[in-house]
Amino acid sequence: MNFKRNILITGGAGFIGSHVVRRMVTRYPDYRIINFDKLTYAGNLANLQEVEEAPNYCFVKGDICDFEQVVSVMQQYAVDGVIHLAAESHVDRSIKDPFTFARTNVLGTLTLLEAARRTWKATAEGFAGKRFYHISTDEVYGALELQAERAEAPYGEALFEETTRYNPHSPYSASKASSDHFVRAYHDTYGLPTIVTNCSNNYGPYQFPEKLIPLFIHNIRHRKPLPVYGRGENVRDWLYVEDHAAAIDLIFHQGKLAETYNIGGCNEWRNIDLVRLLVKTVDRLLGNPEGTSDHLITFVTDRAGHDLRYAIDASKLQRELGWQPSLQFEEGIERTVRWYLEHEEWLESITSGEYEKYYEEMYANR
Ligand code: NAD
Ligand code: TYD
Repeated sequence: MNFKRNILITGGAGFIGSHVVRRMVTRYPDYRIINFDKLTYAGNLANLQEVEEAPNYCFVKGDICDFEQVVSVMQQYAVDGVIHLAAESHVDRSIKDPFTFARTNVLGTLTLLEAARRTWKATAEGFAGKRFYHISTDEVYGALELQAERAEAPYGEALFEETTRYNPHSPYSASKASSDHFVRAYHDTYGLPTIVTNCSNNYGPYQFPEKLIPLFIHNIRHRKPLPVYGRGENVRDWLYVEDHAAAIDLIFHQGKLAETYNIGGCNEWRNIDLVRLLVKTVDRLLGNPEGTSDHLITFVTDRAGHDLRYAIDASKLQRELGWQPSLQFEEGIERTVRWYLEHEEWLESITSGEYEKYYEEMYANR
């Protein structure tokens, strides 16, 4: 079958990647979607059961750091678009093992860029009609101050804009910042058709349960402590993962080359308030009397270099491409909690064995 487009999605077996793959495979039957993923601890093909038989989907197990393999896949499938999500993504792991983050996030991105440049340059049309879309994070901008609470801007008026100076603090955000710089350098130096987006914290189904929301839902259900770092006063801007996938789809098709777009939920929550909302929601959906799990909230040693506040100004994306988040947070959280409670087998399959050992070690010293 001849496909209209051949799109390589890296990291498609991860949390956000699986939503992007599912969306692209179902919405665009005339595109071939090639999911290229190493299947690290965070990659799980069970996330993609709904589309694994689709005629326009295929999976290739591979490492973005393997130049030969990436070039060979790009040639074999005549790839004309890359949506790059593969990464090491957890801040706490980056503090323990920064080298893996530099390897995958920096060298892996550079490898993909160079593979795309060489492969596309060798085609009859060159870079025409090609697109390399790099998915990044708001954490590259560093941290915002927390200001006195006010009704219009409860945690402060400053927001991350596309022009905000990069100022990463964790090995994770430093590695993502570096990868963003390489992407822009490939545009400016070689003319590679690139786009970068920087998104705020995502939540929703299929997120690996080392991140705050799925971890805490799992722990509440199993009556385990909820380790809140510091005093729980850090603020994050939460976006439902399907809204991020919709933004990626839109920007891949209509975003202007060489541009950066911020994506965010306009939805800031202090960690402790979010944890209380989670506890209340899980208790209600499990049929527990209100307050049953409050005692699980446990304040633990703060994360090193813990960024105080992230908040995104997504007005450029709204103004230029008409995107906005579709879900209210309370509705998104309700949907998310229900999903995890109804997919106990998914959580159990990845919370046993190796991961359980890692998790216990991680918290043994807190
Ligand atoms: P994730 O950790 O859930 O998934 C990462 C995926 O990449 C996994 O499937 C893993 O197997 C794969 N991978 C890792 N190393 C690889 C390699 N060397 N070669 C091939 N595949 C490899 O991550 P996520 O939360 O879905 O994040 C996806 C992207 O979005 C990342 O680039 C991340 O920086 C960015 N991002 C995430 C968030 C968030 O809140 N999760 C917010 C903004 C941006
Ligand atoms: P996380 O989901 O790891 O995302 P990120 O660090 O990329 O923002 O964490 C979200 C917030 O929750 C962050 O401020 C750290 C905090 N947190 C805890 O308090 N306890 C935990 O066990 C985890 C995983 C996170």
